[in-house]
Amino acid sequence: MKDERLDLEVLVAAARDVAKKAYAPYSRFRVGAAVVTEQAAVYTGCNVENAAYGSTVCAEVSAITSAISAGEAHLEAIAVAALDGVDVFPCGNCRQVMREFGVDKLIVDGTDGPTVYTLDDVFPHSFGPEDLGGD
Ligand code: THU
Repeated sequence: MKDERLDLEVLVAAARDVAKKAYAPYSRFRVGAAVVTEQAAVYTGCNVENAAYGSTVCAEVSAITSAISAGEAHLEAIAVAALDGVDVFPCGNCRQVMREFGVDKLIVDGTDGPTVYTLDDVFPHSFGPEDLGGD
């Protein structure tokens, strides 16, 4: 992660690109997400809707699931982009999934360009694995 600005651009471009693959026949709202690991590997995902609406998978969960399925353990940041040029922030469920896997940095591809947030900015006082206690 030497060139932070380049990383941002690459990650946002990957999110925008995968948004084109979204399966969103019901909302027509196409979203893409790209996760980067500490080792700079990138995993992407798009939203995949379902006729049973509650079975829809968000882009962020899709990207994080892909990274975890590949055996990644150290996820660093996620970029989110909607195809229609609107600012899209992760929904509550996606923020909780980010929390689970320590995705502490969020890049929103907004109308004024990419904006960086910490997960704590958008999801303060959250509940995570360590709050369960135990040993
Ligand atoms: N969506 C995402 O993929 N990520 C978000 O953070 C917000 C919402 C999707 C779910 C659904 O397919 C569509 O956008 C409209 O809610």
